[in-house]
Amino acid sequence: MKLALLGSTGSIGTQALDVIENLDSDVFSIAALAAGKNVALLSEQIKRWQPQVVSVYGSAEADQLSTLIDTSNLEILHGEQGLIACANQSQADRVLNAVVGSAGLSSTLAALEANIDVALANKESLVIGGELVQQVLQQSEAKLLPVDSEHSALWQLLMPHQSQEIEKIIITASGGALRDWPLDQLHQASPQDVLKHPNWNMGARVTVDSATLVNKAFEVIEAHWLFQMPYTQIEAVVHPQSLVHGMVEMCDGMVLAHIGMPDMKVPIQFALTAPLHQPMNTPRMDWVGQSFNFDSICNDRYPAFSTLLQAAEMGGAALAALNAADEVLVERFLAGNIPFTQIASGLEEILERYTPTALTIDTIANVDQWARQTAACL
Ligand SMILES: NC(=O)c1ccc[n+]([C@@H]2O[C@H](COP(=O)([O-])OP(=O)(O)OC[C@H]3O[C@@H](n4cnc5c(N)ncnc54)[C@H](OP(=O)(O)O)[C@@H]3O)[C@@H](O)[C@H]2O)c1
Repeated sequence: MKLALLGSTGSIGTQALDVIENLDSDVFSIAALAAGKNVALLSEQIKRWQPQVVSVYGSAEADQLSTLIDTSNLEILHGEQGLIACANQSQADRVLNAVVGSAGLSSTLAALEANIDVALANKESLVIGGELVQQVLQQSEAKLLPVDSEHSALWQLLMPHQSQEIEKIIITASGGALRDWPLDQLHQASPQDVLKHPNWNMGARVTVDSATLVNKAFEVIEAHWLFQMPYTQIEAVVHPQSLVHGMVEMCDGMVLAHIGMPDMKVPIQFALTAPLHQPMNTPRMDWVGQSFNFDSICNDRYPAFSTLLQAAEMGGAALAALNAADEVLVERFLAGNIPFTQIASGLEEILERYTPTALTIDTIANVDQWARQTAACL
């Protein structure tokens, strides 16, 4: 399988390369690598994996990259068109989209339009553009394969069953780094406090989004599109141990659960080898003395969760606005410019000011720009 890995320098991207290193090298190879600005790491990856095409953020990064590597058998592209070309013109059999943020949507659409399967870590593709992705999927022979651990779990649980057997799906949330903080101290949380995720080691934005539960709302939306389930049949609960990744309640009341030690390499590998599980040297469950706790999502602690789901019910470009605003608000929080609690209040304010707009690639770009500018001044 020839893979185009988009976002190769990130948390998922680097773990994906570790996974491929341990799979059969006669079966898996890298056709394309795409990254943003981490040219130094990308140049090391190019030396190791010998792709035919790579893409970086802009022309400055492309120039910098060409000084670091032998370019004789390599095409260096940049920007959105470069990312798209890595997805649909690199002869890849599968795209693993691990770009962060709205930048990932166009390459997901491009790969599916070219009938190339997409292993999807970039949840924003479905959060912002779920309706567009769905339309393309209906005309395409390609499949979307979940990489997110919760969706990988649900995918595996749902695989042998028909939709009429399913009553609801249940997604678990760790609750993030501030899960046990007193509510009246949340506004004092520093970036260092929030980036200390209790169970997962992830990129900065998704770690902050885990503490606000923006990430969990995104996952509910992702599940809605991936599994074609109405929101009324998707429940999210806080599960501090992060051992149960997903559950499916059947129509006879029985619940199937997917359980294992948290390790993103497992769902990444499954997205490449499914429906087969292949051996992995991962930590194993120690069942004795292990407890499993589940709590409801408290709106006072996680107000952004309901704001996001309200936007999901509105449809159109509302989620494009909130996703863009969240990117800006998270950056401002990480830079020490706004308190943690202003991420949620900022999202609420953006939704109040948003003018309902139909969803197209062009409206996404306009709404995205409006939301970024507005969120930068809140
Ligand atoms: N990390 C996890 O455990 C996890 C779990 C489930 C789902 N996800 C999802 O997977 C996606 C990636 O997450 P992550 O944690 O791996 O993020 P990350 O560590 O921040 O990495 C993001 C990657 O995207 C690249 N990138 C950013 N902007 C780009 C652009 N405009 N064009 C091309 N490449 C760009 C970055 O390149 P540079 O670094 O070179 O700038 C980097 O390679 C997100 O949607 C996230 O929600 C992550």
